[in-house]
Amino acid sequence: MPTQRIAIIPGDGIGLEVTAEAVKALETLRETRGLPLELVTFDWGAEKYLREGVSLPPGALEMLGRDFQAIFIGAVGDPRVPSNQHAADILLGIRFGLDLYVNQRPVKLLDRRLCPLKDRTEADVNFVIFRENTEGSYVGIGGTFKRGTPDEVAVQEDVNTRKGVERILIYAFEYARRHGWRKVCMSDKSNAMPHGHGLWQRTFAEVSRRYPEIEASHLYVDTLALEMVRDPSQFQVIVTCNMFGDILSDLGAQLQGGLGLAPSANLHPGRTSMFETVHGSAPKLAGKNVANPMAALLTTALMLEYLGHSEAARDVEGVVAEAIRQGITTPDLGGGAGTREVGDWICQRLRQRV
Ligand code: NAD
Ligand code: IPM
Ligand code: MN
Repeated sequence: MPTQRIAIIPGDGIGLEVTAEAVKALETLRETRGLPLELVTFDWGAEKYLREGVSLPPGALEMLGRDFQAIFIGAVGDPRVPSNQHAADILLGIRFGLDLYVNQRPVKLLDRRLCPLKDRTEADVNFVIFRENTEGSYVGIGGTFKRGTPDEVAVQEDVNTRKGVERILIYAFEYARRHGWRKVCMSDKSNAMPHGHGLWQRTFAEVSRRYPEIEASHLYVDTLALEMVRDPSQFQVIVTCNMFGDILSDLGAQLQGGLGLAPSANLHPGRTSMFETVHGSAPKLAGKNVANPMAALLTTALMLEYLGHSEAARDVEGVVAEAIRQGITTPDLGGGAGTREVGDWICQRLRQRV
């Protein structure tokens, strides 16, 4: 297999710490199983932005798209940059710039003791959220008028295109078909947003007809939030717009034990894709060796799967589940281990599994 080049962007805060553990796992897999991975690290983040005024350097998108198969990003966001400008440039810049229209956010309970819901088991919490990742209210179209006065007006547009909606719906149905799943639930707020989300309704009705073997259902997003808590076992594939997917994926993260366990993938089939945790840079935890690296490791598993290393991906997930069972966890999961210690334990088990 030819060398696969992976761009590593540790970013800010705990992003730096959890990325170090993900890199350790990738290097372990490269050494012990000969995975053809070449890792190249980029120092993009708050430090560089504050020092040089550079967020995403000129030419970066072209380089990533041309020279790399995948990107692993820790997290971006730093209280010293209250505008969040560098994070928007880097994270949203790559999502939009590389047209990574699928944001795949699996919700999978690895150990029933971590589920905050009563009497729920691993079988009840196992679904995937597909979040549209290139439009909606994230496009940054809008502005303010009479700013700073009592008459101030702020406009933030919500952009939904036929092409954008259709391609994420198709991806969700194709994923269900590939994985032998029978249910796709689309969620919107068409009762309050008839223009933008009316487009989702009409496109969903049309696309779902092409997949007669799959049960297509719809829930308004408020009801979906309630149903995810009341009975998560009813869901297999959920597909929704950019912002609702953002919010629902944090709710989903908690169903599996918290943000410390939630991975995600930003995909454009056949192109350079980006892998990131659902969690952010958690500034209050940064530099203390307490952040849970498991979300980053499970994100590594998603990336390995994407790169065609399914067995290694399954092993990473299996070893993470084993660490949870044995109580080798950070304080968010009730354990006393540090970020590095959890990472070390997982790498050591990966070596033993070869
Ligand atoms: P956050 O995800 O950083 O933290 C939310 C809560 O979860 C905090 O209590 C935090 O301590 C906890 N938490 C998160 N990750 C954890 C981990 N690995 N282990 C243990 N606990 C963990 O969200 P926030 O506080 O809203 O945002 C902080 C910054 O991160 C902001 O600048 C935000 O914009 C940014 N952010 C970036 C990304 C990204 O780059 N992918 C994602 C989300 C938020
Ligand atoms: C996420 C984050 C980002 C988003 C922020 C940092 C812009 O919350 O990846 O979930 O809203 O997409
Ligand atoms: Mn989020």
